[in-house]
Amino acid sequence: MNDQRELSIKVDGEMFVVNDEDLTLLDFLRSHVGITSVKDGCSPQGQCGCCTVLVDGQARVSCVTPVKRVIGREIETLEGLDDTLKNTWAKAFIDAGASQCGFCTPGIIMRFAALQKSGEKTEIEKVKRSLHAHLCRCTGWQTILEAWDDFGNSEVAIENDKASERASIEGRTPQKIGFDTALGKGGFSADIAPSNCLIAVPDQLGGWSLGESLTEARNASKKIQGRRTTVKAVPPIELPTGDWDAVLRTNWVEPGYLETDSSWCEPGGEPSTPLANGGAFGSKFESVAPSAARQLADKYKRPVLVLLSREDSVHLGHKRPPIAGGVNKNGEGIIRVARTPGIADAINSVAPKIEVQEIDLPGPITSSKVRAAGWAEAKILLCGAFGEVGTIISPDGSEASAEIDEKSINISVRCGEVLNETVLRSYCIGAAHMAWSWVTSESLAVDVNGLIQDLTVRSFGIVRAGEMPEVNVEIQPDSSKAVNGSDAVFVAVAAATWIHKGTLPEWPVGN
Ligand code: FES
Ligand code: FES
Repeated sequence: MNDQRELSIKVDGEMFVVNDEDLTLLDFLRSHVGITSVKDGCSPQGQCGCCTVLVDGQARVSCVTPVKRVIGREIETLEGLDDTLKNTWAKAFIDAGASQCGFCTPGIIMRFAALQKSGEKTEIEKVKRSLHAHLCRCTGWQTILEAWDDFGNSEVAIENDKASERASIEGRTPQKIGFDTALGKGGFSADIAPSNCLIAVPDQLGGWSLGESLTEARNASKKIQGRRTTVKAVPPIELPTGDWDAVLRTNWVEPGYLETDSSWCEPGGEPSTPLANGGAFGSKFESVAPSAARQLADKYKRPVLVLLSREDSVHLGHKRPPIAGGVNKNGEGIIRVARTPGIADAINSVAPKIEVQEIDLPGPITSSKVRAAGWAEAKILLCGAFGEVGTIISPDGSEASAEIDEKSINISVRCGEVLNETVLRSYCIGAAHMAWSWVTSESLAVDVNGLIQDLTVRSFGIVRAGEMPEVNVEIQPDSSKAVNGSDAVFVAVAAATWIHKGTLPEWPVGN
């Protein structure tokens, strides 16, 4: 055997020579083989599952697999799956509403393909456990499990304008639903940037490190890998004094969107959006990536791709502002909130008698554009004061209610013309997951100096597939103009969860 053969791996049936043994399998596949279905959601943490491929038929996260460890072995990616198999999976995901932004979907399809290949009869509990290696921030898991069940049985795959229109209304940014997005081709900047781009990553001093490859740029930046911290997450704001019917202190919360911020730009051009196919529910509207791509492209007179790692996106991304509030049944109260542009208006849009006090806190940057920020907390506090959710009416005019029993979360939503029931249901289930997870489990540890300590995907506390109650969605017919319904669902489920768990004064309340 000559040296070249010894340093080769087979990817989707074709041999490739490994000429840099220090790379991870993920970097090798993306930068040397040009496979973009393997996504980088957290490398090299190995915690989001977006980079999952098959190594000799077994599912493996490629970001923690050194390429030298798989020399001589067979790698299979989504691109290499048999066309019928690939399309049947895509169809199952689309028909179940199990793929929204689609960033997590290729990795999950590969996980399912491995389970299927193992040939054993797979119990649903095993499928749920297999998803513990993954994170999906959009769909709330249930529809993904339905896709597993639906495999091979789905009749018609929706790929139409009405489905994408509903997705765009719910995501508040243009989104497409279809085979391409389910197969990881949602048009993410890191996938579509021209190959001659300089790559820019944040350095440790507030500037940018550049390189001809991601590995070169990251090595130059001396990136420090995030670890889970022992610093405890504590709600950072004290309650206002008063005689209240309900009080609540919330924590810093990481939005945890899967596609980390990226944008590419030509000199003098328009930067690409970091929201290629939604998926951040407002959290990426103020991303640093596009303006940096534009500036660096002009400075270096080259196309530049700005790419944030998971740790960068936690450090630089906008968080939901923490609050501490007390309210009375007559709708009066005080909400103290981390100073955030637009937050007082958001609170007063639904609760005009609540006084808003903005507090300067050391801590991460916050945004009122994060899903329902401010108005959610105000409504939830008022629900807590009355001990019931009733009907939540959002500033968009949609209506939602939620009830929780031992086993399930039951939702009703009215939000104008349905457009596509599968897609609307999917966004409502995703919103229910986000709400349940926020109230019971999520927080971000920030130290006394305001520095974020939780930098890994697992440390955010996002509820996993096996831990989620069943969600039932009833969509009320309505012929008026379609408006966003999942934000009202998010608020209704958060309020119902809080009440169900005993209206404890500090979030997360625990499971
Ligand atoms: S990128 Fe590999 S597990 Fe997240
Ligand atoms: S569809 Fe799973 S992260 Fe967006």
